[in-house]
Amino acid sequence: MNDAWARIESMERLPLARLFSADSERLSKMVIEESGIRFDFSKTHLTPELLGAFTELADEADLEGAREGLFSGREVNITEARAAEHSAERGQGAPESVARAQNLHARMRALIDAIEAGAFGQIRHVLHIGIGGSALGPDFLVDALGRIAGRFDAAIVSNVDGTALEEAVAGFDPEATLVAIASKTFTTTETMLNARSALAWLGEGGVADPYGQVIALTASPERAVEFGVDETRVLPFSETVGGRYSLWSSIGFPAALALGWSAFEELLEGAAEMDRHFRFAPLERNAPVLAAFVDRYYANVRGAETRAVFAYDERLRLLSPYLQQLEMESNGKSVRLDGRPAGRDTAPITWGGVGTDAQHAVFQLLHQGTHLVPVEFVASVEPGHRFDPEHHRQLLVNCFAQGAALMAGRHSDDPHRSYPGDRPSTTILLDDVEPRTLGALIAFYEHRTFANAALLGINPFDQFGVELGKEMAKAMDGDGELEFDPSTEALMARAFGDSLE
Ligand code: F6P
Repeated sequence: MNDAWARIESMERLPLARLFSADSERLSKMVIEESGIRFDFSKTHLTPELLGAFTELADEADLEGAREGLFSGREVNITEARAAEHSAERGQGAPESVARAQNLHARMRALIDAIEAGAFGQIRHVLHIGIGGSALGPDFLVDALGRIAGRFDAAIVSNVDGTALEEAVAGFDPEATLVAIASKTFTTTETMLNARSALAWLGEGGVADPYGQVIALTASPERAVEFGVDETRVLPFSETVGGRYSLWSSIGFPAALALGWSAFEELLEGAAEMDRHFRFAPLERNAPVLAAFVDRYYANVRGAETRAVFAYDERLRLLSPYLQQLEMESNGKSVRLDGRPAGRDTAPITWGGVGTDAQHAVFQLLHQGTHLVPVEFVASVEPGHRFDPEHHRQLLVNCFAQGAALMAGRHSDDPHRSYPGDRPSTTILLDDVEPRTLGALIAFYEHRTFANAALLGINPFDQFGVELGKEMAKAMDGDGELEFDPSTEALMARAFGDSLE
């Protein structure tokens, strides 16, 4: 074990209440205000001493070198031999990559202008078809911000279950619908099948030239053209932008269309602000880095297997599924960059929901269960509605009360009514849920994921773990020569009869 880990693991474990009473400056040390967001780590067990030791660990792991590699366009994704240039989409990166991203954004904007000018007829709906990173980010953005703008209706379809597509198009007029096929590779089975069914739906709905209402968002433009999409309606993005980091590229098209181009630009600018903070702020005052230290501390020192995120804002209800892919697909790995075993737990299981609903469902376990679960609360000072301000007051009061209760606990002689307390939480408080702040928040999560990976020495940018299941499904769907285990064979026989045998 290296020195910094040894120091971290041997450090005294004081309860949260003691950390506050022993240090009147705790808040100023553990709270960071950045890009319109307050990151409050004070209700975690992070101390100045731990912070020092983690900073040492970051030096040993060369976090700063990795960070420079990320921003300068070095080949940080070594298993796939490419750079990871999502920040170039926000203007932060290697100059040639930034220039290329700007050109591609200009092309995206021109297409949006054309749609707004009626080049595709009277388009009112956009049906975005993609999965994983090609759906979760756009869905999160449209859901969080789109309800105010109300320009175009956007529906995001991902599941191969036809019910999803059926529901998405239920209120749509085919003549007024633009179909956006979003796939980095343009090979993903679910997306291709949904795209073909959407084309059929357009045709059945009386659209004479269904392909005339289709656009493609992809890093494989030649495959999109082969599929039948007109070259002028293909919005490419760079191969070096990873799927789960791609909402800033043309994959963000439905958000840009639904919100308007200037809102999309504000989103990028908010992310760029967070990029600059992550790149230049000292490690001990760096929000994504501190969050990663907290993640590592609970996962590797206190044995927490999960981490829960609760958005106390209906606009952020898709934050948790978005984060699940970002964090678990990026850092759910068992080997280091050089192929050696990781040697310690990597990504915890990310789960969560929306407050206050979750309080009446899962919070029992958080307050009195046997598992240690670091909790993250995400809320906004400004409400997203015009009803009685009391709604928002209640929402925030509940959010803050939960963090306080988890920490304080309460003793009772009746063990059933006792709360152990000393349970950690982080609070992330946004000024408002608007494009700039949301851009900064998402970039914060991306960089936190990267910082975690750097501390662990793993590659956050590949996802080979998803391949085996895909291959098996293809084999099962193929000529039937491959033999599966008896349980699987029996399931297939029960569901398909002889049709696959
Ligand atoms: O299944 C994993 C994955 O490769 C994700 O990483 C990706 O976001 C998703 O599939 C969709 O891929 P594509 O954009 O190429 O269709």
